[in-house]
Amino acid sequence: MYFPGLEGVVVKETKICYIDLENSKIYYRGYDLEELARLSTFEEVTYLLWLGRLPGRRELEEFKARLAAHRLPPPHIATLAKSAPPSAEPIDVLRTAVSAMAWGEDLSDKSPEAELQRGLKITAAMPYVVAAFDRARRGQEPVHPAEAGSHAEYFLWALRGERPSPREARAMDVMLIIYAEHSMNNSAFTAVTVASTLADMYAAVTAAVASLKGPLHGGANVDAAKMIEEIGDVKKVEGWVDEQLAKGRRIPGFGHRLYKKGPDPRLRVLRELAKGLAAERGDFRWVEIAERLEDYVTAKLAAKGIYPNTDLYAAVIFRYLGLPVDVNLPTFAISRVAGWVAHVLEYRQANRLIRPTEKYVGPLGLRYTPIDARG
Ligand SMILES: CC(C)(COP(=O)(O)OP(=O)(O)OC[C@H]1O[C@@H](n2cnc3c(N)ncnc32)[C@H](O)[C@@H]1OP(=O)(O)O)[C@@H](O)C(=O)NCCC(=O)NCCS
Repeated sequence: MYFPGLEGVVVKETKICYIDLENSKIYYRGYDLEELARLSTFEEVTYLLWLGRLPGRRELEEFKARLAAHRLPPPHIATLAKSAPPSAEPIDVLRTAVSAMAWGEDLSDKSPEAELQRGLKITAAMPYVVAAFDRARRGQEPVHPAEAGSHAEYFLWALRGERPSPREARAMDVMLIIYAEHSMNNSAFTAVTVASTLADMYAAVTAAVASLKGPLHGGANVDAAKMIEEIGDVKKVEGWVDEQLAKGRRIPGFGHRLYKKGPDPRLRVLRELAKGLAAERGDFRWVEIAERLEDYVTAKLAAKGIYPNTDLYAAVIFRYLGLPVDVNLPTFAISRVAGWVAHVLEYRQANRLIRPTEKYVGPLGLRYTPIDARG
């Protein structure tokens, strides 16, 4: 059997995420994602994804305290983030930092508790790494706002050096919840593939960050941000789209391997979130461009099964939150690490080395000619 792109291949049984395509719903551990986005927090959702149930009040407080205790990474990671060349891409700095977090730690213990603790350390430290690099490349010192409450508030505060408004912190929190998990996507599969060799959590997450970078996966949220910037004016949407399609280019923020019959369910939350931020600022420019794009591209490409995906509105939301365009991508990783760790922990419960096969279509029986006889 041959499945190009592994489309439709089932690699594991899971209790983490269910995507109900019929009813346009996503569930994390059985809970409706839209309800979690409305009522929960990233920390609580991370607990849910990793441990399989909602925490009690005390458990949640303890979990948050454990995360907060690891927000400031070890000195070698802080130095790495600060000293990376300003021309580096933030996602590459983050990937290297996650890898370097393995240094100096005894990695022999592969128990679920030890691997979860590694996942927690990575999750906790990611915002500081991204923010410290972004500030350093602008000539600013890193900040570690120890008094920040939520993970989302900490990230925005560490980036800007100033406390974000409660509404901004909550918008980032919702983004982190929405992006946290999405079944067996490419980066989750990458994490699981690496973990299946019994390599440690640092190795698995490093590989997952590398997978996320590609423009067909997480990188689309940077391309979508560049697109809305380039369009710049709602009146230019149609012309811009026509030109791209005439050149045979893909429109970032559109299309998905799963959502071929309608838009991504997460769009409902993100569209409202984007509109709320626009109203708060009295600046509807970016949300209007996204809505026009949504209508126009859908009218043109729905027949091919192309609908908007989360990255379209993520780009708008991150713009309203003032993120530098290339920070959109590591922000995705700051959230999705929750899903990666959950998948690694789940897969390890019944680990089997992932080792697919392939269909050989090349020649056989060729005779080796010494180099001198080859001309
Ligand atoms: C996400 C994506 C890789 C899914 O790809 P896929 O399931 O393999 O879909 P296919 O590559 O088979 O595309 C099917 C058709 O739609 C077209 N298509 C897919 N995405 C398109 C897009 N964003 N804009 C324009 N056309 C698109 C393809 O060119 C193809 O057309 P064809 O049949 O005439 O050759 C793809 O839609 C894409 O590249 N999107 C843009 C990047 C993006 O937003 N990624 C984030 C995903 S969450």
